[in-house]
Amino acid sequence: MDSVQALRCKECGKTYPLKKIYMCEKCYAPLEVIYDYESIHLKRSNFRNRPKTMWRYRELLPVSSRSKIVDLHTGYTPLQKANRLGKILGLKNLYIKNDTVNPTYSFKDRPVSVAVTKAIEFNAEAIGCASTGNLAASSAAHAAKAGIPCYVFIPNDTEHNKIVQIASYGAKILVVNGTYDEANRLAMQVAEEYNWVFANFNVRPYYVEGSKTLAFEVCEQLDWNPPDHVIVPTGSGALLCAISKGFNEFEKLSLIEHANVKISCAQPYGCSPIVNAFKKGANVVEPLEYPETIAKSLAIGDPGDGDYAIKKVRDSDGYAESATDEEIIEAIKLLAKTEGVFAEPAGGVTVAVLKKLIERGCISTDERVVCYITGNGLKTTEVIANQLPNPTEIHPNLDSFKTVLNRKEVISW
Ligand SMILES: Cc1ncc(COP(=O)(O)O)c(C=O)c1O
Ligand SMILES: [Zn+2]
Repeated sequence: MDSVQALRCKECGKTYPLKKIYMCEKCYAPLEVIYDYESIHLKRSNFRNRPKTMWRYRELLPVSSRSKIVDLHTGYTPLQKANRLGKILGLKNLYIKNDTVNPTYSFKDRPVSVAVTKAIEFNAEAIGCASTGNLAASSAAHAAKAGIPCYVFIPNDTEHNKIVQIASYGAKILVVNGTYDEANRLAMQVAEEYNWVFANFNVRPYYVEGSKTLAFEVCEQLDWNPPDHVIVPTGSGALLCAISKGFNEFEKLSLIEHANVKISCAQPYGCSPIVNAFKKGANVVEPLEYPETIAKSLAIGDPGDGDYAIKKVRDSDGYAESATDEEIIEAIKLLAKTEGVFAEPAGGVTVAVLKKLIERGCISTDERVVCYITGNGLKTTEVIANQLPNPTEIHPNLDSFKTVLNRKEVISW
């Protein structure tokens, strides 16, 4: 589209045409999409009759032709006011951005819808990705919709239900005996040799743009008043940086008055290289070789956008905090029981970190806070199944029901 200008190096500023490249030839830093904001004339009222998907923000998404968009109806997910959870945590204005209800049940449908659209534009023979599971499921589904093959590289501890989901869409699954970072390195070598589009490498600058819509939607759903504070579950840091860019773009286009949103980073304790660097006051993330956490979707020891994520958090006056496995499980249960939203551990990390930040006095009662809940609990039932009470068996008669109803464990439900 006309508003999409070029790719630009995040470090030296060198610009490149909109091709299948992701790294600066001069300094090897990542590239990002730049827009001609002067040419974008968007008013709030323009959105009234647009589709209720992420593609309602098409001027700010880097695709050339609307007719080629590969979309499974992603986005415009509910932003629900979380009064019951807020009351327990001590917040009057807490919101849950429920991205568990996307077509493949995670936020990854947002970046992948853009990446697979670019793959079609670039005439790719196949789609590929290295993934902790959710990106693979989303890539597989979008490749199926586009009618092209898909190859995913996942670590060997990826959750069972995610593997079943990926296989159902017909993707070829390469289970790498190693960590996500090792799967990632292998997939990068494959990307060098084949004419495939790898969602998170050779079209990465385009791919990350899709996640900006998580900021756009929140602004629109809050009647164009951006929240005071957002909590973002973080692995590579790409999602956090995209959310920050999204708020800034809406400010540039005068769709919101200001983009003063505190952005806080939430990681699992067993894989928190960004949090550790932030707490030490460092600007550069030190990679972690062997992550150990139940939040496998966030188990990225060498976060590609980690240094940029630290800067976004600092510049916005946000915080970075981690949560242990026990805290993650408690938070998954708390969110489900108070708000009816069943999240995978990444969502537990977000809620557990929110709780800690409130306890530390970093968030005040009146702040308008949005928690991004980015993946569905049905993908990771093994982490929670044995943490819940067993169902009660009864005979098919009323007496049997009355007998069990008097039992302590049933009454205490
Ligand atoms: C459910 C979920 N939430 C959050 C993230 C973090 O995204 P990023 O790696 O861009 O920081 C991931 C990454 O895989 C994820 O699967
Ligand atoms: Zn450069």
